[in-house]
Formats: sequence, C-alpha cells, structure tokens
Amino acid sequence: MARLAVNVDHVATVREARGIDVPDPVLAAGLAELAGADGIICHLREDRRHINDRDLRLLRETVKTKLNMEMAAVDEMVEIALTVKPDVVTLVPEKREELTTEGGLNVKAQPDYYKGVVERLKGGGILVSFFVDPDPEQVLIAQQCGGDIVEIHTGHYSEARSESEAIERFERVTRAVESASDLDLRISAGHGLNYKNIKRFGALPQIEEYSIGHSIVAKAVLVGFERAVMEMIELVDYL
Ligand code: PXP
Repeated sequence: MARLAVNVDHVATVREARGIDVPDPVLAAGLAELAGADGIICHLREDRRHINDRDLRLLRETVKTKLNMEMAAVDEMVEIALTVKPDVVTLVPEKREELTTEGGLNVKAQPDYYKGVVERLKGGGILVSFFVDPDPEQVLIAQQCGGDIVEIHTGHYSEARSESEAIERFERVTRAVESASDLDLRISAGHGLNYKNIKRFGALPQIEEYSIGHSIVAKAVLVGFERAVMEMIELVDYL
C-alpha cells in the first residue's frame, strides 16, 4: 500500500494572490493529516512566491507525520534546512521564470557538488531525496551521491496528450523505477498526478510514496480539503 504526501504550496499561492494571511498552508497541512495523509511537503523557493520561512517553521512545529522540504541545492537553503530540520529534503532544480518545477535535477552535471550537499544534510540527520527525470542514469548518480530516496518526475507522463503517448511515457517511468529498485533506493513519484492519471501506477508497487499538490488543492477549493485528501488516499491505497 503506497503512501500519500500532500504538497501545500498552492494553498500559499492563493494567500499570496491577495498578499494577506489566509488561507494558511499550516492549517491545510493539519487538515490533510486529519484526513489521513502520511506526510506534508512544501517547497521553499528562493523568491518565496508561495511558502515562506514562517510557514516552514510552523509546519516543522505542527506536522505530526513527516515533513518533506523541497529546495534548490544552494547554500541559503541548506543552512535553513539544517536549522529547521525537516525529516526529508527533496533536492529540485529551480528557475525563477518557471510556473512550477519543470524538469528533474541534472545530478549528472555536478555529482561532486551534490555529494557535498548530501553530506551536509545527512550530517544534520536529514534524509535526502533527489527529484530526477525518469532516466536510469540520473537515478544511478543520485544513488552514488548518497541519496536515500529518488522521486521520479511524472510530469512528462502527466502531460501526455494521447493514450499512446501516455503508455510510452509511463514506460520510461517504469524503467527508472526498476533501476532505482535494483539499487535499493527508496522510491517516490510526483508532479502533475491527479485523480485519473494516478490509476496506472498500480503497475508499480515499488513506489512507496506519491507527492501530490495541485490536483488536491484544485479539488479542495470546491469540495473542501479533507474530502479532497481522502479521495486521493482511497486511490493511493489501491496502488
Ligand atoms: N514533486 C516535486 C519535486 C514538485 O516540485 C512538485 C510541485 O511542487 C510536486 C511533486 C507536486 O506536483 P503537483 O503540484 O503537480 O502535484
């Protein structure tokens, strides 16, 4: 049975649209946990466009399950992580102009650099996850850099515009998951997953956890946060 970790970034996006203090992603995280979520995820971006330092601090104090902080592998964020101590850090690429994280981290481009970042974070007792494209080579290098977990980027699969494209892109996810499993890495998946396209993942029991944000927040706006989370848990429980 797979786990669901809920990303609360876009609750903060709605707050920032008005520049006031509601809705609060910290309350949303509490509701997600009450609904049965296994973890809470937030991305502290360099430009603080949604989650801010106060949110991260309060999430650390209040999250009862597991807090996963997504961040760029830069000094400022490593320092913050070592102070706040989330349970897991997920290293992601970050570009100011992107609407959301666009691709996986190119671990292959700077393995020595990422090895150093992993050592610092693990020295602080934090588990490290690498968010990578469904590419066995990136998975292997993430493992060689000391990563505990790989999160396979499902965005390309989610954006498939036909069934044949979805099958072909899911095949790539499958190959990456199989190589991560052969390397004894813990495996997560996320980006663009929703109440429909998650169903195909029943074929990949090696995936321990799903990281899902936008589709849950989008449904929550209309039906409430707890119901939106519960309906996703029902699906994830089947995988
Ligand atoms: N995983 C990572 C690494 C992400 O950056 C995001 C988006 O913040 C997600 C998962 C969740 O994606 P979505 O909001 O499309 O569910």
